[in-house]
Amino acid sequence: MNTKIDVLLGLQWGDEGKGKIVDVLTPAYDVVARFQGGPNAGHTIEFGNQKFVLHTIPSGIFNPGTQNVIGNGVIIDPVIFDQEITHLKSSGIDILSNVFISRKAHLILPGHRLLDAVYEKAKGKQKIGSTLKGIGPAYTDKAARNGIRIGDIGRKDFMEKYQKAKQRHLQLAGLFNADFETIKIEGYSFPAYEKLWLEKLELLKAFSQIDSEYFLNDALRERKKILAEGAQGTLLDIDFGSYPFVTSSSTTAAGVCTGLGIAPSNVGRVFGIFKAYCTRVGSGPFPTELFDETGERIRQEGHEFGATTGRPRRCGWLDLPALKYAVMLNGVSELKMMKSDVLSGFKEIKVATHYNINGKLSRQFPSNTEQAEIEPVYKSFPSWDEAIDHLTNFEQLPENLKAFIRFIEKEVGVPISLVSVGPNRNQTIMR
Ligand code: GDP
Ligand code: IMO
Ligand code: MG
Repeated sequence: MNTKIDVLLGLQWGDEGKGKIVDVLTPAYDVVARFQGGPNAGHTIEFGNQKFVLHTIPSGIFNPGTQNVIGNGVIIDPVIFDQEITHLKSSGIDILSNVFISRKAHLILPGHRLLDAVYEKAKGKQKIGSTLKGIGPAYTDKAARNGIRIGDIGRKDFMEKYQKAKQRHLQLAGLFNADFETIKIEGYSFPAYEKLWLEKLELLKAFSQIDSEYFLNDALRERKKILAEGAQGTLLDIDFGSYPFVTSSSTTAAGVCTGLGIAPSNVGRVFGIFKAYCTRVGSGPFPTELFDETGERIRQEGHEFGATTGRPRRCGWLDLPALKYAVMLNGVSELKMMKSDVLSGFKEIKVATHYNINGKLSRQFPSNTEQAEIEPVYKSFPSWDEAIDHLTNFEQLPENLKAFIRFIEKEVGVPISLVSVGPNRNQTIMR
């Protein structure tokens, strides 16, 4: 019989700590596979005195025995990919023999990055707060059947395809009267970025290109263990997130099937990861957001600044209606709670148990989060004074934190199997 693929994904608005936990779990897996998103992701991994932020490369890369797959659902920018591998190589990490890229994964073209900037500017106050990595335009071209895939690199007609796409992108940008001189991509003008992009494209040729659907299904038949690594979070999902303030891919467990070519019946455990509070970077609804010094304290204590863009993250209390919604959509079987250490020393901790929507109590995440007047109804918990970032055993945790954990488990109906108490690999308590 086949083994089944396990999934780890974010239950909030991203940045839950997916990179850290994939790295922690990797020694138990033969393969780690990214199934969606692109370099809008920033996954931080810390061990010893080293710190890495990965954007495209799966977080299993630090375990020499694990193969890392970039699935067909992912989109790749060769320039950012090159930055990642350069950093990893300089630290002695073997990339070439351990990273496999789907031929069906799409490329992010320089024109996609240009259009991302143009579209965001045109939205004015309604801007999404995109990471400007070209995500929306690249997935748009994929859906419109205009995309260019990794498997196209090196084919005779590649440059012809590229030039056609470029012309289309420049025409589109022209409709917005975009001023090309002022729009910068990673600090470069469009022509300079294009030159760099074409150079780095060559680099991609050195990597093993695979049909990841066959690679992974064969691995399952050989009873290998596979972990799928999500990017972004459930509340940024193109269908179920707080639309239109979302990303352009399927961030839920459903994305594993389309982003890797895995049948639903071959999905096993789903690990849902969440912070003991909430953060969001970019625009859009955030019912439990704090605008006071408590929010600022969470930001400072939790170092809540974007791993990809450096932007300050918006901070607020844990939102149970949103968490339960995410657990339902993903069929989460185990929860992993992150960053509890950040809440040490607070006078009180709050959790939203309901929403008051236009005078009516509700436990559901509304579909029109943008328009609805959502007022969270909170339950308050006493905090704990002591630092917990050195603890290694669940029983050692302060009683108030244990009570907080039990409350969440009871409300959500899913066990919390891991409590993270710091950014480092070894600051992880398994239950
Ligand atoms: P990802 O995108 O889900 O992989 O998460 P990010 O890497 O963007 O953001 C998570 C941040 O929190 C990173 O800076 C991590 O190093 C850090 N981190 C992860 N787990 C913990 C934890 O339990 N406690 C603290 N204090 N920091 C954590
Ligand atoms: P990881 O994998 C947090 C947010 C952006 C913006 C919206 C759309 O590190 O958790 P996009 O660039 O996709 O067009 O941006 O989604 N966003 C993220 N927020 N973590 C991420 O990834 C994110 N990727 C995109 O801030 O609001
Ligand atoms: Mg991140």
